[in-house]
Amino acid sequence: MTHDTTGLKDAIKHRRTIYQLTKKSPISDEKIKELLTLAIQDVPSSFNSQTTRIVALFKDEHDKFWDLVAGKLKPIVEGQGGDWSKSEARLKMFKDAYATILFYEDKAVVKGLQEKMAVYADKFPQWSEHTSAMHQYMLWTALETEGLGCNLQHYNPIVDKEAAETWKVPAEWELIAQLVIGQPAEGAREGLAKKEMKPVEERLHIHGA
Ligand SMILES: Cc1cc2nc3c(=O)[nH]c(=O)nc-3n(C[C@H](O)[C@H](O)[C@H](O)COP(=O)(O)O)c2cc1C
Repeated sequence: MTHDTTGLKDAIKHRRTIYQLTKKSPISDEKIKELLTLAIQDVPSSFNSQTTRIVALFKDEHDKFWDLVAGKLKPIVEGQGGDWSKSEARLKMFKDAYATILFYEDKAVVKGLQEKMAVYADKFPQWSEHTSAMHQYMLWTALETEGLGCNLQHYNPIVDKEAAETWKVPAEWELIAQLVIGQPAEGAREGLAKKEMKPVEERLHIHGA
Protein backbone atom coordinates (compact mmCIF):
# COMPACT_ATOMS: atom_id res chain seq x y z
CA MET A 1 0.00 0.00 0.00
CA THR A 2 1.36 3.47 -0.83
CA HIS A 3 0.65 6.58 1.18
CA ASP A 4 0.33 10.12 -0.15
CA THR A 5 2.58 12.13 2.16
CA THR A 6 2.43 15.42 0.23
CA GLY A 7 0.17 16.96 2.88
CA LEU A 8 2.61 16.16 5.64
CA LYS A 9 5.60 17.39 3.61
CA ASP A 10 3.83 20.68 2.90
CA ALA A 11 3.01 21.07 6.59
CA ILE A 12 6.65 20.47 7.56
CA LYS A 13 7.83 23.07 5.04
CA HIS A 14 5.15 25.59 6.08
CA ARG A 15 6.10 25.56 9.81
CA ARG A 16 8.18 28.56 10.83
CA THR A 17 8.74 30.73 13.89
CA ILE A 18 6.30 33.63 13.69
CA TYR A 19 6.57 36.36 16.31
CA GLN A 20 4.07 38.91 14.97
CA LEU A 21 0.81 37.35 16.12
CA THR A 22 -2.64 38.77 16.84
CA LYS A 23 -5.41 38.19 19.37
CA LYS A 24 -7.39 36.30 16.75
CA SER A 25 -7.51 32.72 15.58
CA PRO A 26 -8.44 31.56 12.07
CA ILE A 27 -9.96 28.41 13.60
CA SER A 28 -12.35 27.83 16.51
CA ASP A 29 -11.24 27.00 20.05
CA GLU A 30 -13.00 23.64 19.51
CA LYS A 31 -10.74 22.87 16.56
CA ILE A 32 -7.65 23.84 18.60
CA LYS A 33 -8.88 21.60 21.43
CA GLU A 34 -9.26 18.74 18.91
CA LEU A 35 -5.61 19.12 17.91
CA LEU A 36 -4.50 19.26 21.55
CA THR A 37 -6.43 16.05 22.18
CA LEU A 38 -4.89 14.47 19.10
CA ALA A 39 -1.43 15.31 20.45
CA ILE A 40 -2.21 13.85 23.86
CA GLN A 41 -3.71 10.70 22.35
CA ASP A 42 -1.53 9.95 19.35
CA VAL A 43 1.95 11.38 19.82
CA PRO A 44 4.28 8.59 20.97
CA SER A 45 6.20 8.52 24.24
CA SER A 46 9.13 6.45 25.47
CA PHE A 47 7.91 3.08 26.78
CA ASN A 48 4.43 4.46 26.10
CA SER A 49 4.94 6.37 29.35
CA GLN A 50 2.53 9.19 28.37
CA THR A 51 4.41 11.67 30.54
CA THR A 52 3.34 14.81 28.66
CA ARG A 53 0.74 17.14 30.17
CA ILE A 54 -0.66 20.16 28.38
CA VAL A 55 -2.22 23.25 29.93
CA ALA A 56 -3.71 25.48 27.24
CA LEU A 57 -4.42 29.11 28.10
CA PHE A 58 -6.75 31.10 25.88
CA LYS A 59 -7.55 34.82 25.80
CA ASP A 60 -7.61 36.31 29.35
CA GLU A 61 -5.82 33.28 30.80
CA HIS A 62 -3.12 33.69 28.15
CA ASP A 63 -2.79 37.38 29.09
CA LYS A 64 -2.50 36.40 32.74
CA PHE A 65 0.41 34.05 31.95
CA TRP A 66 2.42 36.79 30.23
CA ASP A 67 1.71 39.20 33.09
CA LEU A 68 3.09 36.58 35.48
CA VAL A 69 6.23 36.21 33.36
CA ALA A 70 6.69 40.00 33.29
CA GLY A 71 6.29 40.19 37.08
CA LYS A 72 8.99 37.56 37.56
CA LEU A 73 11.39 38.72 34.86
CA LYS A 74 11.45 42.46 35.63
CA PRO A 75 13.39 42.24 38.94
CA ILE A 76 15.77 39.69 37.39
CA VAL A 77 16.60 41.85 34.36
CA GLU A 78 16.87 45.03 36.44
CA GLY A 79 18.92 43.21 39.07
CA GLN A 80 21.41 42.28 36.36
CA GLY A 81 21.51 45.89 35.12
CA GLY A 82 19.70 44.95 31.88
CA ASP A 83 17.36 47.04 29.77
CA TRP A 84 13.87 46.11 30.98
CA SER A 85 12.16 48.01 28.15
CA LYS A 86 13.57 45.51 25.63
CA SER A 87 12.34 42.49 27.59
CA GLU A 88 9.05 44.24 28.22
CA ALA A 89 8.50 44.80 24.50
CA ARG A 90 9.29 41.15 23.79
CA LEU A 91 6.83 39.95 26.42
CA LYS A 92 4.19 42.33 25.07
CA MET A 93 4.68 40.73 21.67
CA PHE A 94 3.82 37.33 23.19
CA LYS A 95 0.90 38.76 25.15
CA ASP A 96 -0.47 40.27 21.93
CA ALA A 97 -1.08 36.71 20.67
CA TYR A 98 -4.22 34.58 21.11
CA ALA A 99 -3.23 31.65 23.30
CA THR A 100 -0.31 29.89 24.94
CA ILE A 101 0.16 26.15 25.20
CA LEU A 102 2.17 25.07 28.24
CA PHE A 103 4.00 21.77 27.90
CA TYR A 104 4.65 19.91 31.12
CA GLU A 105 6.21 16.55 31.90
CA ASP A 106 4.88 14.53 34.82
CA LYS A 107 7.98 13.77 36.88
CA ALA A 108 6.05 11.36 39.11
CA VAL A 109 5.63 9.06 36.09
CA VAL A 110 9.32 9.44 35.22
CA LYS A 111 10.29 8.57 38.79
CA GLY A 112 8.03 5.51 38.69
CA LEU A 113 9.75 4.30 35.51
CA GLN A 114 13.19 4.87 37.03
CA GLU A 115 12.23 2.68 39.95
CA LYS A 116 10.57 0.02 37.79
CA MET A 117 13.36 -0.21 35.21
CA ALA A 118 16.49 0.73 37.13
CA VAL A 119 18.71 -0.23 34.21
CA TYR A 120 17.45 2.86 32.31
CA ALA A 121 17.13 5.09 35.38
CA ASP A 122 19.57 7.71 34.11
CA LYS A 123 17.92 7.80 30.67
CA PHE A 124 14.26 8.36 31.58
CA PRO A 125 14.55 12.12 32.26
CA GLN A 126 16.15 12.58 28.83
CA TRP A 127 13.49 10.46 27.10
CA SER A 128 10.83 12.47 28.87
CA GLU A 129 12.28 15.64 27.28
CA HIS A 130 12.25 13.88 23.89
CA THR A 131 8.62 12.95 24.42
CA SER A 132 7.75 16.56 25.19
CA ALA A 133 9.57 17.73 22.07
CA MET A 134 7.53 15.37 19.91
CA HIS A 135 4.31 16.87 21.25
CA GLN A 136 5.66 20.39 20.75
CA TYR A 137 6.65 19.76 17.15
CA MET A 138 3.43 17.98 16.25
CA LEU A 139 1.29 20.84 17.56
CA TRP A 140 3.51 23.58 16.15
CA THR A 141 3.29 21.97 12.69
CA ALA A 142 -0.41 21.09 12.90
CA LEU A 143 -1.50 24.52 14.16
CA GLU A 144 0.43 26.32 11.43
CA THR A 145 -1.23 24.07 8.86
CA GLU A 146 -4.55 25.42 10.18
CA GLY A 147 -3.51 29.03 9.54
CA LEU A 148 -2.16 29.90 12.97
CA GLY A 149 1.34 31.24 13.56
CA CYS A 150 3.45 29.94 16.46
CA ASN A 151 6.64 30.62 18.37
CA LEU A 152 8.26 28.52 21.04
CA GLN A 153 9.38 30.09 24.33
CA HIS A 154 11.12 29.00 27.54
CA TYR A 155 10.27 31.20 30.51
CA ASN A 156 10.50 28.20 32.82
CA PRO A 157 11.54 27.83 35.53
CA ILE A 158 11.07 31.46 36.64
CA VAL A 159 7.29 31.30 36.20
CA ASP A 160 6.69 27.68 37.30
CA LYS A 161 5.54 28.42 40.85
CA GLU A 162 3.12 31.20 39.91
CA ALA A 163 1.72 29.19 36.98
CA ALA A 164 1.24 26.14 39.20
CA GLU A 165 -0.65 28.23 41.78
CA THR A 166 -2.77 30.00 39.19
CA TRP A 167 -3.86 26.98 37.15
CA LYS A 168 -3.71 24.34 39.92
CA VAL A 169 -0.89 22.43 38.26
CA PRO A 170 0.29 19.41 40.32
CA ALA A 171 3.67 19.89 41.96
CA GLU A 172 5.10 16.87 40.08
CA TRP A 173 4.54 18.48 36.70
CA GLU A 174 7.58 20.28 35.35
CA LEU A 175 7.15 23.10 32.84
CA ILE A 176 9.24 22.44 29.73
CA ALA A 177 8.17 24.95 27.05
CA GLN A 178 5.53 27.44 25.97
CA LEU A 179 4.07 27.58 22.45
CA VAL A 180 2.58 31.00 21.69
CA ILE A 181 -0.10 30.93 19.00
CA GLY A 182 -2.29 33.36 17.09
CA GLN A 183 -3.32 34.48 13.65
CA PRO A 184 -0.21 35.99 12.07
CA ALA A 185 -0.23 39.76 11.67
CA GLU A 186 -0.62 40.88 8.07
CA GLY A 187 2.47 39.98 6.06
CA ALA A 188 4.23 38.34 9.04
CA ARG A 189 4.66 34.96 7.35
CA GLU A 190 5.39 36.43 3.93
CA GLY A 191 8.01 38.78 5.44
CA LEU A 192 10.05 36.01 7.07
CA ALA A 193 13.72 35.98 6.17
CA LYS A 194 14.92 32.93 4.28
CA LYS A 195 16.63 30.59 6.70
CA GLU A 196 20.37 30.18 6.62
CA MET A 197 20.91 26.49 5.99
CA LYS A 198 24.00 24.49 6.82
CA PRO A 199 24.85 22.13 3.95
CA VAL A 200 22.61 19.06 3.90
CA GLU A 201 25.58 16.82 2.95
CA GLU A 202 27.25 17.70 6.26
CA ARG A 203 24.17 16.73 8.21
CA LEU A 204 22.73 13.78 6.32
CA HIS A 205 24.72 10.60 5.75
CA ILE A 206 23.12 7.68 3.92
CA HIS A 207 24.67 4.26 3.43
CA GLY A 208 23.49 1.31 1.41
CA ALA A 209 20.53 2.97 -0.32
C1 LIG B 1 14.08 23.08 20.82
C2 LIG B 1 13.83 24.49 20.36
C3 LIG B 1 13.88 25.52 21.28
C4 LIG B 1 13.61 26.83 20.88
N1 LIG B 1 13.57 27.84 21.82
C5 LIG B 1 13.22 29.08 21.45
C6 LIG B 1 13.08 30.12 22.42
O1 LIG B 1 13.25 29.90 23.62
N2 LIG B 1 12.73 31.36 21.99
C7 LIG B 1 12.50 31.63 20.67
O2 LIG B 1 12.16 32.76 20.34
N3 LIG B 1 12.63 30.66 19.72
C8 LIG B 1 12.97 29.40 20.07
N4 LIG B 1 13.08 28.41 19.13
C9 LIG B 1 12.86 28.74 17.70
C10 LIG B 1 14.14 28.59 16.86
O3 LIG B 1 14.98 29.69 17.06
C11 LIG B 1 13.70 28.45 15.37
O4 LIG B 1 12.89 27.31 15.26
C12 LIG B 1 14.88 28.36 14.44
O5 LIG B 1 15.60 29.57 14.39
C13 LIG B 1 14.45 27.99 13.03
O6 LIG B 1 13.50 28.92 12.52
P1 LIG B 1 12.05 28.44 12.06
O7 LIG B 1 11.30 27.99 13.28
O8 LIG B 1 11.42 29.66 11.41
O9 LIG B 1 12.19 27.30 11.10
C14 LIG B 1 13.32 27.10 19.52
C15 LIG B 1 13.28 26.03 18.61
C16 LIG B 1 13.51 24.75 19.02
C17 LIG B 1 13.42 23.63 18.01
